[in-house]
This record gives sequence, C-alpha cells and structure tokens, in this order.
Amino acid sequence: MRIYATANQKGGVGKTVDTINLGAALAEQGRRVLELDWDPQGHLTEAVGARPADPGGPSLARALLGQWSGELSELVQPVGENLYVIPTSDEMFLLEPQMYGRSGREYLLSRFLDTLKDVFDDIVIDCPPSLGALNDNALVATRQRPPGDEVQGKIVIPVQAEDSSIRALRLFLRQVSTLQDALGIQLDIAGLVVNLYDSRKGRITTSTLEAFQAHPLGVLAVFKDLKEVREAWRLQTTVFSYAPDSEIAAGFRALAARLDPDLTPVAAP
Ligand SMILES: Nc1ncnc2c1ncn2[C@@H]1O[C@H](COP(=O)(O)OP(=O)(O)OP(=O)(O)O)[C@@H](O)[C@H]1O
Ligand SMILES: [Mg+2]
Repeated sequence: MRIYATANQKGGVGKTVDTINLGAALAEQGRRVLELDWDPQGHLTEAVGARPADPGGPSLARALLGQWSGELSELVQPVGENLYVIPTSDEMFLLEPQMYGRSGREYLLSRFLDTLKDVFDDIVIDCPPSLGALNDNALVATRQRPPGDEVQGKIVIPVQAEDSSIRALRLFLRQVSTLQDALGIQLDIAGLVVNLYDSRKGRITTSTLEAFQAHPLGVLAVFKDLKEVREAWRLQTTVFSYAPDSEIAAGFRALAARLDPDLTPVAAP
C-alpha cells in the first residue's frame, strides 16, 4: 500500500483538487484508492459529493480518539469505481486539540492507516492548510519503512507560482526536517505540483515556475487554471468523470504514472 500526503500549510494552492484527481487517476488504473479528508474544513468531502459523518456517530476522528470502534464500512463511502472516501466530521475540529498531550500523538493516523493495507492499494490524504498535529500525523504516515515493508509513502507538495508560495515552501520544508529530527524518521518528498498556472500573469509567475523547476525537489506536474477543474468541483465529481478527454485529466494520469512507475499504463478513454 502506498500512502500519499498532499500537503502544504499555505491555503488555496490546490491540495484538495490534487488529492481528488490524483486518487481518481490511480483508481482509473485499477488501484483500490482511499481519499482521506484530513482537513476539518471538509472541502474534499463536499467536492466529491460525500456525506460528512453524523455527529456522535462513526467517524475517523472518534475512532482515533478511542471513542468509537466498529466496521471500516461504517467510515468509508464509495464515490466511484475503485474510489472511496473517508469524509470529514464535526469531531475533526476537536481532534487536533485533543491530540496534544497524548504520547505518540504523531502516529495516531499512521497506526490506523496501516491496518488498511489489505483493503486499499493507495491512500491519498488531503491535508489542512496549517502546520499542526494533523499535518504532522499525515506526514508521519508517509515515513520511510524498513526495506520490504508493505507500506510505502510519499509527500506531494502543491504550490502556486507566486512569491508567497516560495516562502511557504521554505517553512514547510523546515517543518519536515524538524519532524524528522524529533522523531528519528525519514520522509520522502516526491516533488512539487504547480497548480493554477497562468503565464499571462507575467514575469513573476513565469520566473517563479523557473525557480520551482530549478529546486532540488523538482516539479512533478504543472496544471493550468482550467475551467474543467472548477466545473467538476461544482458538480461534485472528478475531472475523470466530468471531462475524461481533457488536458487536466491527461495531466493527472501523467502525474499518477510519475509517482507510481509500477502502474500499467492504459490509454486515455
Ligand atoms: N488547476 C486548476 N484550475 C482551476 N481551478 C483550480 C485548479 N486547481 C485548484 N483550483 C481551484 O482553486 C481553489 C483552491 O483549490 P483547493 O481547494 O484545491 O486548494 P487547497 O490548497 O486545498 O485549499 P485549502 O488550503 O483551503 O484547503 C478551488 O476553488 C479549486 O477549485
Ligand atoms: Mg483543501
């Protein structure tokens, strides 16, 4: 099982769009994919047309806090072929403050996700725009495992081609190294995904893209600001069901293939 964390504390850079459509691209290739709405804002839940968990009912937040235990099927909703979602819940807002003070709090999510390794091939985590315990938990879930371990992970960093995104990236990378040092773990960053790219915005935009391309992390994909993304979001679906022949769907197929070289390439429909 591969775990991808789509993470950047900067808001509005395309984390949720990348999570939804990377997951859909992997599912199209026949992988059994779980998308995890790990942001209390619940944007992913809304954008894929899932129902938020009922207050006081089965939810991932309550499961992690030891307040609920039951069948996985009570937490997971199907949203497409091979594609499943764990939605947000009201309790997600309470999860982060309740994590502080617990020993081993950074591993709460990781321990849960590892139990799903016989159920899903890939898990894509939509992280919140903050550098707190939720974000740390998602990053830790992707940590390098001993050779031969069935679980592998990678961090994907969505960015936007603007100066503030470069400063935000520096801060994010500092958090990654702090976490590695504090916990004695290794985190594997797959690279950057540049979203909402619009070269008509001029030199600041194009030179920022060049700076990202020169960055040692490398750029995995550049996605233009495309109407199909917003239209699919409004219709609560992925760009794969809404516009399977679009440039953006092709781009996400290529991103999935870059992240997972073991995928058997299939022709676009
Ligand atoms: N390639 C794209 N083309 C057009 N619109 C896009 C594209 N990528 C993202 N968007 C839009 O930009 C907005 C921000 O994207 P998204 O919600 O994915 O960012 P985010 O990083 O998850 O935000 P937050 O930090 O609030 O969670 C959304 O309205 C989304 O539909
Ligand atoms: Mg988001």
